[in-house]
Amino acid sequence: MFTIAFSTMVFYSFEWMNPPEKNQDHSSLVSQQLSVLGENLPWYLDSTFTPQEIERGQSLVYKGYYTLGTKKSKKQSKHFTCKSCHNTQREDPVLYRPSAESRLEYAVEHNLPFLQGTTLWGAVNREHWYNDDYYKKYGSLVKNAQDNLESAIQLCATECAQGRALTQEEMRYMLAYLSSLQVKMSDLDLTEKETHKISNASSPQEKKQALSLLKSKYLLASGATFTDVLSKDKRNQKANPQTGKQIYTQSCLHCHNPKNGVTNYTLDISKIDIKHLKKNVLENNPYSIYTITRVGTSPIPGYKPYMPHYR
Ligand code: HEC
Ligand code: HEC
Repeated sequence: MFTIAFSTMVFYSFEWMNPPEKNQDHSSLVSQQLSVLGENLPWYLDSTFTPQEIERGQSLVYKGYYTLGTKKSKKQSKHFTCKSCHNTQREDPVLYRPSAESRLEYAVEHNLPFLQGTTLWGAVNREHWYNDDYYKKYGSLVKNAQDNLESAIQLCATECAQGRALTQEEMRYMLAYLSSLQVKMSDLDLTEKETHKISNASSPQEKKQALSLLKSKYLLASGATFTDVLSKDKRNQKANPQTGKQIYTQSCLHCHNPKNGVTNYTLDISKIDIKHLKKNVLENNPYSIYTITRVGTSPIPGYKPYMPHYR
């Protein structure tokens, strides 16, 4: 809060009477409202980043490198970019009650990929990362990552993306970009009464209540529940082919399409590919959609592209 107010003052002191529009936008960020209510913000929500820093962070997420003048940085991962597994837009219609079903519907409606990683939109607004069952996959590695976004990013860069850790500057650019993807007050579906309660809280008691009301309206942690591979006798019951097609196109083809996918195992919507998957549906091998979606694959020495399982 202090940093934002201070840098605003230095930058715009000659414009006191008429603060620029960008600043007015800023006050509608959820983080800004939290700060007004007395919350201590992590440093990246309490900093002003330059457009160049944000742009370099975006480039890291989209392309895996950034450019300084004509110089390109070393690629973060040879196998993936963050966009292989994460969206950068909102992906849940109701922020405080995410579900795979509503996310898929939303993905179809907005033509977004449906992916294993949680969207990076609003990642800075969360307070915990790699929650619940990720402990089963990464063990003690998630310990540091759960309460610290920078550690979560490094874990993902090295383990999920099978690449190198970000340098200190790159981490700043990354957080600059992620901070530009913050949840805004207008993204929360607040009633008039709730808005009033939050923006008019003044006593410590009122502020405390407003804080917990506000924090109940978006996700503080993206949950993960790993389930076992469905037993053979339960498969193919009440399956909805329309949903299957949506998952195939919005999710599987995002990585398996031959043009800009991330694997040599390519798939498209052709009958041959689908036949091959169909043939294995009742098997317990990696080509069974029941197995692959629950177990994924693991990177092997000398061949690092792998498939993360779904949560
Ligand atoms: C191969 C897939 C893959 C790639 C590439 C990848 N991630 Fe992830 N990431 C995941 C999965 C799976 C999780 C598990 C937790 C979740 O998102 O729910 C995750 C988790 C995260 C989390 C914690 C999310 C949360 O709320 O728990 C952050 C932050 C993150 N990744 C950032 C990045 C960044 C930044 C990059 C690029 C440098 C990246 N990831 C690349 C798959 C990937
Ligand atoms: C985030 C990217 C990503 C998504 C999304 C994804 N896959 Fe994969 N998948 C991979 C990678 C990488 C491999 C490793 C293949 C390789 O050896 O190159 C793989 C491997 C596979 C394999 C082969 C397993 C083996 O042992 O060779 C199958 C089958 C498969 N995926 C099916 C699917 C299906 C079905 C979906 C959708 C439900 C899906 N994938 C979604 C990245 C992805």
